[in-house]
Amino acid sequence: MKLYINKASPFARKARILAHEAGIADRIEEIDIVVSPVKTNEVLARENPLIKIPALVTDQGETFYDSPVICEYLDTLHQKRKFFPETGPQRFAAMRRQALTDGILDAAVLCRYETAVRPEALRWKDWIEGQKRKVFGGLDVLEAEADSWGDEFGIGQIGVACVLGYLDFRFADWDWRAGHPKLSAWFERASRRPSVAATMPPA
Ligand code: BEZ
Repeated sequence: MKLYINKASPFARKARILAHEAGIADRIEEIDIVVSPVKTNEVLARENPLIKIPALVTDQGETFYDSPVICEYLDTLHQKRKFFPETGPQRFAAMRRQALTDGILDAAVLCRYETAVRPEALRWKDWIEGQKRKVFGGLDVLEAEADSWGDEFGIGQIGVACVLGYLDFRFADWDWRAGHPKLSAWFERASRRPSVAATMPPA
């Protein structure tokens, strides 16, 4: 399989962590590419018309996107404990947590583009504050849940690790740890997992 990624992308990191945890990372060839909202990557555009990473090309030549679809597909390729519960309330709790962490990442990545890509004269402070409000609203919900996770490391917790890693990577000055002591302690433990350590964004 081929997985189009960028090592800075928290969405690609979800798939990379899951593959590592599932013991199937060696079946995946990572293709590290540059993406930009204002410059089309033609190689990626041939696989994914949305021109977004991650995109997975299976051994059968089918292309899957976006990260929830790729992660759920990868979860069918191994015999370990599933990262997506198959049925019942646990499945919906995990899917809701994935939606929350993906939403936080959407808001954070939009802030990154707004501050790093958009010309300074066109930046809109209130818009950035609106996105930041979503990030911190989501973190508050995760903080309230963190104690209930125990040792669980399913798709929801993979998303949380990607959120917190991305905030450390791009928005260290937002100081997300302040006011989120449970998440902070959880992330310290999660960061020791080989899958999380092996997929750290580049320095
Ligand atoms: C980043 O550099 O922050 C980034 C790269 C790819 C996708 C999303 C974010």
